[in-house]
Amino acid sequence: MILPLGSFPTTRMRRNRRDAWTRALVAENALTVSDLIWPVFLCDGRGQRMPVESMPGVVRVSVDLIAEHVAEAAALGIPAVALFPYTPKEQRDAEGSRALDPDNLVCRAARALKAAHPGVGVIGDVALDTYTDHGHDGVLRDGYVDNEETIAVLCRMAVLMAEAGVDIVAPSDMMDGRIGAIRRALDERGLIHTRIMSYAAKYASGFYSPFREAVGSLSALVGDKKTYQMDPANSDEALREVALDIAEGADMVMVKPGLPYLDIVHRVRTAFGVPTFAYQVSGEYAMIMAAVERGWLDKDRAMMEALICFKRAGCQGVLTYFALDAARRLKAG
Ligand code: PBG
Repeated sequence: MILPLGSFPTTRMRRNRRDAWTRALVAENALTVSDLIWPVFLCDGRGQRMPVESMPGVVRVSVDLIAEHVAEAAALGIPAVALFPYTPKEQRDAEGSRALDPDNLVCRAARALKAAHPGVGVIGDVALDTYTDHGHDGVLRDGYVDNEETIAVLCRMAVLMAEAGVDIVAPSDMMDGRIGAIRRALDERGLIHTRIMSYAAKYASGFYSPFREAVGSLSALVGDKKTYQMDPANSDEALREVALDIAEGADMVMVKPGLPYLDIVHRVRTAFGVPTFAYQVSGEYAMIMAAVERGWLDKDRAMMEALICFKRAGCQGVLTYFALDAARRLKAG
């Protein structure tokens, strides 16, 4: 691009901003409902809608309510939901065994959703932290998350989810080599259409705490995740992570968290041109909602501005707890 193309007063940048219609005409990016992925939390029981304290407006729903819970999102055209299970302490163990139960919350919800809303994509999170009593994403050996042992479990978990109806498996564990191993495991079972959305550049972030409350991991987590999730100081390293995941068979890649990491999104999209997503994580949602509750921010404006920024940075879509609200807002015009 050659700049500048003109100079004042011949050129007045404010001309195109003068009226709503010109602003719409020259807009470089747009947010549509098909950009939104809605993360949904699941819990045991029947008829349950348990609020998540640190995420105002977000609930965990029991599986009998999941079809109804997603109905409006489906009607509005939200393309996909991402499922996360709340697992209380007494159901957790060191190996995260529940992850391999074909009747766990995620598998049951996937079956219910595919029956009720076959046109809505179902995304399943592949990692053990929502099932382990130590809160780590894999299997601990001498205090270290063992890479290969974890991958072996993740492969079985991904196959189980896919067989239950999950359309996109989303490994969020950050083990090395897991995308290739999961792709092979799926293909061996003939699950060649199951897509992989890799949490390719996932950072060891302080912005995940409300999520950890929502899934019951907050009190469980021993230590931190810095031996597998990325250092927030790094950017070139994200490109290597993404390159490896693409080579191993990822269909889509994700950067996480979202807003503080839009430079990474932009580099990834520019360097690779693959479908690129970002996760506007729980802490980002909590920050906005906390300010909204105090009357310090206007919810709709903050939400819609944050979401268009993801598009401007180069995202094809965003995982956001605002998905339903934003879809309603887009429909209202
Ligand atoms: C599980 C997982 C996490 C999130 C998504 N998948 C938590 C973590 O890695 O500790 C965070 C999402 C959010 O904060 O909204 N591996």
